[in-house]
Amino acid sequence: MTTSSAPGKIILFGEHAVVYGRPALAVPVTQVHTDVEVSDSARTGMWIDAPDVNLHAELNTLPSDHPLASVIHNFLFISRVSAFPNLDIKITSTIPVASGLGSGAAVTVALTRALASHLNYSITNEEVNAFAYEIEKLHHGTPSGIDNTVITYAKPVYFVKHPSSPERRGVGSEVETFKVGKPFTIIIGDTGISAPTKESVGGVRRLWMNDKSRWESVFDKIAEISFTARRAIEQGYWEMLGDLMNENHELLQELTVSSPELDNLVSVACNAGALGAKMSGGGRGGNMIALATPDMAEAVSNSLKKAGARNTIITQVS
Ligand code: PMV
Repeated sequence: MTTSSAPGKIILFGEHAVVYGRPALAVPVTQVHTDVEVSDSARTGMWIDAPDVNLHAELNTLPSDHPLASVIHNFLFISRVSAFPNLDIKITSTIPVASGLGSGAAVTVALTRALASHLNYSITNEEVNAFAYEIEKLHHGTPSGIDNTVITYAKPVYFVKHPSSPERRGVGSEVETFKVGKPFTIIIGDTGISAPTKESVGGVRRLWMNDKSRWESVFDKIAEISFTARRAIEQGYWEMLGDLMNENHELLQELTVSSPELDNLVSVACNAGALGAKMSGGGRGGNMIALATPDMAEAVSNSLKKAGARNTIITQVS
């Protein structure tokens, strides 16, 4: 039997601006993960068992655009296996679906690595990342590639989409992993509202089309925040991130991608003792994050729950 695991992720700074070539910072969230087990099967075919989504089926009975089927079919294509092996594939995940924590990319990364390892196909991190980006594009249109990147490397990443080479988004030289000078704690609060990233990205695109110079200057301000945040994290001055989160949140409000629920959780977190807070990811729903000292994290998390957060995760970035 071969196993593989991939973490969730959260964007700390730079969402939306990253689509316009500015840097963004994202980190793995190891409290939630996708786990895949692949073993030889006594039955003919490839049997997928994914109890979290109530799926128990043979690969060929699934539509070819099914997210799991498309990973397996595409992997078998790139690995050029001559005979289809008989396999049992078990997929479990604690990453909430469609909430900006990277559940889709985590399934792709863990499944690809487990299949590769079981079938003795050697695959580098860069190849896993490029493959996962292709799969992300099948399901999400025009993602920047930040999800697959942070999940593949399972390290904090400073990610810049390369404006001049869209085909290289999510792979190659524009991705830098970086060191965390001193660990710090963030609390992730889920509004429970599912909001497709595609729509908020489209909303920003419309604003930008109507007044490019105004929004380019907002993206530049966000870029400055991401850049400063990276330096602060590397040098261990994580307390500085609180103000940077607040500033980034205001700019995301200006971009119209926040929501009353996100704004409420952000101010609840700050009133409960967080050093700063912001929405995270596509926005208009999904998650927010707050920075707190380790001894305040529980209080911030409890206040978020009282204020209506469906779920909270306290995670240490290290
Ligand atoms: O909602 P998430 O966590 O998948 O993040 C979306 C981030 C955006 O910058 C809004 C879009 C992207 O593709 O980078």
